[in-house]
Amino acid sequence: MTTAERIRSVHDAARARLAEAGVWDVEGDLAALRERFLAGGAAADVARFEAAVAERCRRIPLGHITGSVDFDGLELVVGSGVFVPRHESTALVAWAADERTLPRGGVALDLCSGVGALGIALSRRRPDAKVTCVERDDTCLQYLRRNVARHEAVLGEVAVHAADLTDPGCLDAYDGGTDLVVANPPYVSPEVRLLPEWSEHQPRAAVYSGADGLDLIRRIAVLAAAALRPGGRLALEHDRAQPEQVRALLRGDAFDDVTTFVDTAGEPRITVARRAHQEGTP
Ligand SMILES: C[S@@+](CC[C@H](N)C(=O)[O-])C[C@H]1O[C@@H](n2cnc3c(N)ncnc32)[C@H](O)[C@@H]1O
Repeated sequence: MTTAERIRSVHDAARARLAEAGVWDVEGDLAALRERFLAGGAAADVARFEAAVAERCRRIPLGHITGSVDFDGLELVVGSGVFVPRHESTALVAWAADERTLPRGGVALDLCSGVGALGIALSRRRPDAKVTCVERDDTCLQYLRRNVARHEAVLGEVAVHAADLTDPGCLDAYDGGTDLVVANPPYVSPEVRLLPEWSEHQPRAAVYSGADGLDLIRRIAVLAAAALRPGGRLALEHDRAQPEQVRALLRGDAFDDVTTFVDTAGEPRITVARRAHQEGTP
């Protein structure tokens, strides 16, 4: 058997193994693993490719295996212990980057930044804005800083703020002076059954948040109400089953113009609101 024939047979066998393991995008994952591990076409590459396929069959997230993910046209480094950004969140970035949402030279916060997907993508689209990424997890913070440094040449001002959003006073420095708050926080209830990629391999603190999944979203609503100037905007990503609950917790004195729109997969997972001009908290 020639090397080319061997590679073809390994590749076809990988397709069957991934399908049997229940991977939902077999062709997409196969292409990514092939490009990352099999491009050289040497015997050593075959062994690396087969090891990577075996990991994917154990439902380890693709990004954890390849070490990077494309998000809004930026290659972000990721790895075990961090949440892998989802392409679907780019709909939130597109809304946030619009000048009707974030005025020129504006100030934006990306809360629960993870490896920095929303904040970094926003800064690339809007280098005139000042973006601060807020995250509490040390592993995430390392990836976040690497990603900011890696893309520095195409970004505006991006600051990293290590903070736990449940701590009192964690965002005191931003009181009333912020134009935009974006967040893709943990929002899943333990009652919800997830695919193993999320339930077993992504950090629990990145996925779950209290009995109904909304603990951190409630906290972010309070923090955003304090941080935003009147007329400033908030955008939250959440589960497709949560839009009514999220809109209900935002409706009150603090926010108006509360609406939900769909992500790039057509799911109603992004709820936005405007900081009201009168005083109040949600
Ligand atoms: C769903 S991940 C999203 C990451 C990123 N925003 C994205 O879209 O890829 C949620 C992130 O929130 C962080 N997080 C959870 N609880 C937090 C808290 N109390 N304070 C700050 N960050 C928190 C987790 O460490 C995790 O990185």
